[in-house]
Amino acid sequence: MSTTPPVDPAEVFPDDLEAAILDLKREQNAVLLAHYYQESEIQDLADFVGDSLALAQAASRVDKDVIVFCGVHFMAETAKILNPERKVVVPDLEAGCSLADGCPPDEFRDFIKAHPGARVLSYINCSADVKAMSDLICTSSNAVKMAREFEGQPLIVAPDRHLARWIGQQAGRDDLIIWQGACIVHEQFSAKELTRLRVRHPEAEVLAHPECDASVLDQADFIASTSGIIARSVDSPAETLIIATEDGVFHEIEKKLHAAGKQKTLIQAPGMDESCACNRCPFMRLNTLEKLYLCLRDLSPEVTVAEETRLQALVPIQRMLELSA
Ligand code: 13P
Ligand code: SF4
Repeated sequence: MSTTPPVDPAEVFPDDLEAAILDLKREQNAVLLAHYYQESEIQDLADFVGDSLALAQAASRVDKDVIVFCGVHFMAETAKILNPERKVVVPDLEAGCSLADGCPPDEFRDFIKAHPGARVLSYINCSADVKAMSDLICTSSNAVKMAREFEGQPLIVAPDRHLARWIGQQAGRDDLIIWQGACIVHEQFSAKELTRLRVRHPEAEVLAHPECDASVLDQADFIASTSGIIARSVDSPAETLIIATEDGVFHEIEKKLHAAGKQKTLIQAPGMDESCACNRCPFMRLNTLEKLYLCLRDLSPEVTVAEETRLQALVPIQRMLELSA
């Protein structure tokens, strides 16, 4: 986990931080992109809020000078790869991801070498270096479709073992070569506690992200990316929903339900440890309004990608975007 120092206590912040952020955004000719796992206040200030795929698509279209990426590092890196003319800054450079961190490029290179002839499908939650070694990138909203591009060919799927298992199940493949990484947030949902919760709420629909363990996914009525879960929460006929993903999505679900004039009972899927807020991504939540303000004011910290790596990583990302259009 990150050891980012706290914001310098000597910093003086404007009383109305939100208004100051919006002023700076205009002055710096910046666009603010945010993932659904960000704090509600950050989501509300963003020009665009989305899942990993929608954010990559949005980043590729930005024509402002600066992209302020409120998400995690691999997302900002993807934005830079897709739109190198823009300056890409993040509120906290330490906002990583257990999946990206758990797939070091050197070890992944050896893993590929150990499986000669295999093609490589990498989840977007990985570093630019790992993307550069991949044939195709996927996100949770297009993973099965991307895997079908490699029918009949040996295929490495990295770095999330739960997503990979689910892809194999959906695509009818039991031969996938799987890198054994995991998301520390989605892995903590408890199948045992979920079963107990379902007994108490037999009317509830269970919605889960494919980064969850098989024991949780097996109990889900609906499995999708964050934006898929949000859309289904509004459209589902069920009035009680149990949701197994980071709880940042509740903000958008509540907004959309309100706009649709609907009321539902939203229940967070239980974790293994009741004493911690483990359903909150500790990396995503490193971003705060104060850090966002400083990042816009100073246009720092900046995310950069070596040009050779960028050009190699761009190929499989662009291929994914074309196949997802
Ligand atoms: P999606 O935005 O694709 O649903 O992924 C969730 C996630 O964990 C991002 O890191
Ligand atoms: Fe990574 Fe999991 Fe956090 Fe997403 S929720 S950024 S996969 S650690």
